[in-house]
Amino acid sequence: MHNGRGWLSTGNMAAFAGGAVAAVVASRMLPPLMAQAVGSARAAAGRDPFEALIKDHRQFVALLSEMERSPNDAVFQRTQLLLRLKRRLTAHALAEEDVIYPMLHDRANAVEDARHLYGEHAEMKMHLHALEQMPKGDPRWLDRVGALKALIQTHARQEEEIDFPKLRQLLSDRQTARLSGSLQREKAFVL
Ligand SMILES: [Fe+2]
Ligand SMILES: [Fe+2]
Repeated sequence: MHNGRGWLSTGNMAAFAGGAVAAVVASRMLPPLMAQAVGSARAAAGRDPFEALIKDHRQFVALLSEMERSPNDAVFQRTQLLLRLKRRLTAHALAEEDVIYPMLHDRANAVEDARHLYGEHAEMKMHLHALEQMPKGDPRWLDRVGALKALIQTHARQEEEIDFPKLRQLLSDRQTARLSGSLQREKAFVL
């Protein structure tokens, strides 16, 4: 590197560093962008994005029921089930908080519903935190599992029976396809 004219000139190095940064950014952005394209294509093919969210709800309840059935000494199994639940619930919550609830708030004018649902997600996160911190063999661990399951069931019922239908009737086919892509993109940041 001399006088800025060799192959390792300051300009070249800056360009190289810039290119490397761009490559890293591109590699991180690619999975969410691919997921967005796949999600839009699925919706265009007639798949209802709300059905995918409802399917997630069933999975959460199934994982929590499995936790409830596990014996107190199945510490490893409980830890694994909890991690699976946390990952899926985090992705689902991110998609709802960044896409569904703002639409509910701004487009469906369901301001109170949106605030209430955001608040319940915060409660779920506190339950998850407590479940991670508590000894998995502690009988009180199952009480927390039961409380989280009850909360998720009530919350899911509100979304499925009241708020998803409100949005479904507002959206055109094109908007539904775009929504599906956006949901997939948000989930891909976590999954
Ligand atoms: Fe939710
Ligand atoms: Fe949900």
